[in-house]
Amino acid sequence: MRNKVIAGNWKMNKVLAEAEEFVQEVIKKDPADQNVEAIVCAPFPFLATLVQQTRNSTVKIAAQNMHFAENGAYTGEVSPVMLKDLGVTHVVIGHSERREHFAETDETVNKKVNAAFEHALTPIMCVGETLEQRESNETMNHIEEQVSAGLKGLTEDQVAKTIVAYEPIWAIGTGKTASSSDANEVCKHIRNVIEKVTSEETANQVVIQYGGSVKPANVDELLAQSDIDGALVGGASLEADSFIQLVEAGKK
Ligand code: 13P
Repeated sequence: MRNKVIAGNWKMNKVLAEAEEFVQEVIKKDPADQNVEAIVCAPFPFLATLVQQTRNSTVKIAAQNMHFAENGAYTGEVSPVMLKDLGVTHVVIGHSERREHFAETDETVNKKVNAAFEHALTPIMCVGETLEQRESNETMNHIEEQVSAGLKGLTEDQVAKTIVAYEPIWAIGTGKTASSSDANEVCKHIRNVIEKVTSEETANQVVIQYGGSVKPANVDELLAQSDIDGALVGGASLEADSFIQLVEAGKK
């Protein structure tokens, strides 16, 4: 049985005091358990504080991006070594907003996914199609390309530990959720692609999240699907109550 993993991606929101208040409320409830993980993907300036704050809780702290190099002349970038040193456990790689606005490609995503494992960080690798691709029936091919390119060079054990987030771009921040069966179809396809490049046993271990307008009102239906093992949540992860409800949904 795969664990459920609920990750809140705050994107570029909150100031430190708001971040601390949120985490305070979540750790009071400590909603995660042995079957469901709760991860907060916070902006870089909050990571050190939030890692300290969650030290004795079940909540894990993730970064939303990183560079693939360990160090060097990359002004403004943050390395996997720095994240590991802080106690960050996960890192979001290749979110569609980074692919669109910051020129990330399957190649940089792949370098970052490999770098995450080199530094014992768990990557949450994002894939997803545009509305145009969906309407021209290119979704499955596009997803296959993104998944197989992103996972290149990993051992089977590393693939098994990768979290893949399927986020159709047209469903992000739009209030439009993919129907649970459409979302599941693509998540199942992702598992099949992983099976092709590794094995059935490995593919069955990979946690695959859905993301795109997930909220407490639709999370149960999404999580009830055979191949959806969690959610990567933007807007509905900004309020502690809503985030707690999403994590609680993972226990059902
Ligand atoms: P929304 O939940 O706001 O649609 O954002 C999804 C997302 O991009 C999470 O990474």
